[in-house]
Amino acid sequence: MSAAATVYVLNGPNLNLLGKGQPEIYGGETLGDLEAACVEHGGACGLAVSFHQSNHEGEIVETIHRAREEAAAIVINPAAYTHTSVAIMDALLAFDGPVIEVHLSNVHRREEFRNHSYVSKAATGVICGLGTKGYLLALDAVADLLVPDAGDSEG
Ligand code: DQA
Repeated sequence: MSAAATVYVLNGPNLNLLGKGQPEIYGGETLGDLEAACVEHGGACGLAVSFHQSNHEGEIVETIHRAREEAAAIVINPAAYTHTSVAIMDALLAFDGPVIEVHLSNVHRREEFRNHSYVSKAATGVICGLGTKGYLLALDAVADLLVPDAGDSEG
């Protein structure tokens, strides 16, 4: 049996406060709860989840560079950097595998500045507004995208 593909799940600034700040927008689960759920759900999908959070743009860029060597796919909630970071967009554009952008809140129902995402230019797909469940759906999508189409082998 082949080894599980590694997926980097990346979280941007302030997400270390998940469950503690603005729970009416972001819910009551902590980042630790979310990591445990991603590791468990990823495992059930045949994926090894490597979970990261950083408040620093350059550190997120460097983690994406590491993913080029170590990961088959990226799930990323870039948080506020979604709306500002050309550097994170460029790093993701240099990554070959699927990239799923996730937001806990529906960024399109909120302030206008949250309606635009630089990261979406580099994303295979985007999930927003479904809370932490969005991360699990993103892992489902990664599992589907990494498995070669069953139809191919029937050729
Ligand atoms: C967020 C939405 C962003 O606009 C915000 O800056 C965040 C969290 C979300 O998950 O809904 O920090 O990415």
